[in-house]
Parts: sequence; structure tokens; C-alpha cells
Amino acid sequence: MTKPTCEDTFLKKRRSLGNDYYSLTFSPYSQAERCRPGHFVHLKLPGNDVFFRRAFSIAAVSPSAGEMEIIFKIVGRGTRAMAHLRPGDPINLLGPLGTPFKRPRKREHTLMVAGGIGFPPLLFLARDMISRGHDPKRIEFFYGGRTAGDVIERSRIKKLGVTFRPVTEDGSLGSKGLVTVPVEEFIENHDNGNCRIYGCGPEGMLKSTNELALRLGVPGQISLEAPMPCGIGVCLGCVVPLTDGGHARVCCDGPVFSIGEVAL
Ligand SMILES: Cc1cc2nc3c(=O)[nH]c(=O)nc-3n(C[C@H](O)[C@H](O)[C@H](O)COP(=O)(O)OP(=O)(O)OC[C@H]3O[C@@H](n4cnc5c(N)ncnc54)[C@H](O)[C@@H]3O)c2cc1C
Ligand code: FES
Repeated sequence: MTKPTCEDTFLKKRRSLGNDYYSLTFSPYSQAERCRPGHFVHLKLPGNDVFFRRAFSIAAVSPSAGEMEIIFKIVGRGTRAMAHLRPGDPINLLGPLGTPFKRPRKREHTLMVAGGIGFPPLLFLARDMISRGHDPKRIEFFYGGRTAGDVIERSRIKKLGVTFRPVTEDGSLGSKGLVTVPVEEFIENHDNGNCRIYGCGPEGMLKSTNELALRLGVPGQISLEAPMPCGIGVCLGCVVPLTDGGHARVCCDGPVFSIGEVAL
């Protein structure tokens, strides 16, 4: 785990992405250069209404501008307060936290498997790979949601030049059904030894992604979410069981784990 810092920064930009999704960009952020795809920040809102910090994956960074972006959906008190922040409001950030994704080999087909609000770290990973010379045509960006409004930032993903494959449960965008179905079809039509999966999303989706990767012999990693009171490995509030009988803290041993590592 990278050594985190705790620092005060400010909201620079807030964008509403529709359907209760928001993007927040913070600046100046001295750690932007150290942030890697899979890292997250623990964010403390101003005032005392929301006491505990909230965890958010890093969606993008601009080290030259000292900026860092997160993307979130309103699900409760903390995220509702975040949606009302205004440019110039102060925020305290602890981060970057957690272990980042390991990049695939350049010749491999990279299968991003995003579900709902699980897409931000995969957006960061795809951008980072492309900036390091990976061919965007070898990145398949599967993105599942309940309905079209849950598949956000589509033009931003498409602009990367990746193969964008939206999937919705109601069929309002892309193919109809669960995101893991076209992922499985893709692997069956390609050399599984040349594919690598990266998953982030709701627990059920991650469980299915993990199972199909194990069954089809595809390596990769998934990023987990868990209740995260401290974020730095102290409180044991985020412990998950491992398949080898041990346990791991999602905040510092993860949130990124190898396929087959966690007993989901
Ligand atoms: C490592 C990590 C990375 C994360 N990255 C992101 C991200 O990039 N974008 C993002 O939107 N969220 C992300 N989350 C989830 C985010 O931390 C929670 O959505 C947030 O803490 C909820 O705070 P709240 O005060 O609004 O909700 P709370 O008041 O704490 O909870 C309100 C209700 O929402 C439910 N809830 C809590 N978390 C979630 C969740 N993740 N999904 C669905 N329901 C939930 C609770 O069970 C409760 O019923 C991440 C979590 C972790 C651990
Ligand atoms: S959140 Fe406290 S140990 Fe992980």
C-alpha cells in the first residue's frame, strides 16, 4: 500500500451526470501523481453532519493540474451532502489508499467488466493503459446497468477508442440482460489464455465475474467494496474471508484482489 497523506483541498468542479450520478474534481491535490487505477480516497465532508469518512475510487487524475476526480451515485446521507457541494468548498482527503490494479500485458485482450457505479476505477485503468502504449482496440469495455441511465459517461468511454459494450437489464441500451453474459461469449470466441478480466461493481456481479473467470481459466482482478470505517487497516471493519482460509482487509490488502482469491 502506498503511504497515504491527509490533506485539505477544495472542490474545483461539480458535474451532474443525470440519474443521481455526479462527478467531483478536487484541486489542488498534491498526491495526483501518485494515484494509480484501483486506488481510492477517504473523504471527510465539512461540518459534523456526516461524521465518518466515505470511500471513493479515483476516476481520473491530472498530475500537471494537480486535479483528482471521483464519480459517485447518491445512495444515502453522505453522498447526498456531496452532491450539494459547491466549487470552492473545502474537503479533507485521506489517500491514495489501497492496492492498485496490475496492468495486463500489451498483447492481451483486456476485458473491463463494470457494473453500475463500479466503472470509475476501470475508466482510470483504461486511460492509464492507453497512455502507456496499450492498443485501445484490445480493450473491451463491458458496462452493465439496470437501465440506460445507469450507464453513464458513455461518450467519454467511447472517446478512448476502446470497444464499448453497454448491457442493460431492461434492454434500453446495448444488449439485454446481465453484463457477464456477453463477457462469457467474448471469452468463448477468443483464446482464453490471451484474455484478462478486470471487474468492479455490485457484489452479485463480482461473484459471477469471479466464477466465470475461474471456470474459463481467465486470470484477472476484481475491486471490492466493503464498509470502511478507518480505511487504513486499523479497525478490521472491512475484513473478508479468503479462499485459502485466511482473511484480508479490503482497505489495505485490497480493494483489488486476484480472481479466485476472495471467498465471495
Ligand atoms: C474502496 C471503495 C470504493 C468505492 N468507490 C465508489 C465510487 O467510485 N463511487 C461510488 O458511488 N461509490 C463508491 N463506493 C461506495 C461509497 O463509499 C458509498 O456509496 C458511500 O460510502 C455511501 O455513503 P452514504 O453516506 O451516502 O450512504 P450511507 O448512509 O452510508 O448508506 C445509505 C444506504 O446505502 C447503502 N449503501 C452504502 N454503500 C453502498 C454502495 N456502495 N452501493 C449501494 N448501496 C450502498 C447502505 O447499505 C445504506 O442502505 C466505494 C466504496 C469503497 C469501499
Ligand atoms: S476500514 Fe478499518 S481496517 Fe479496513
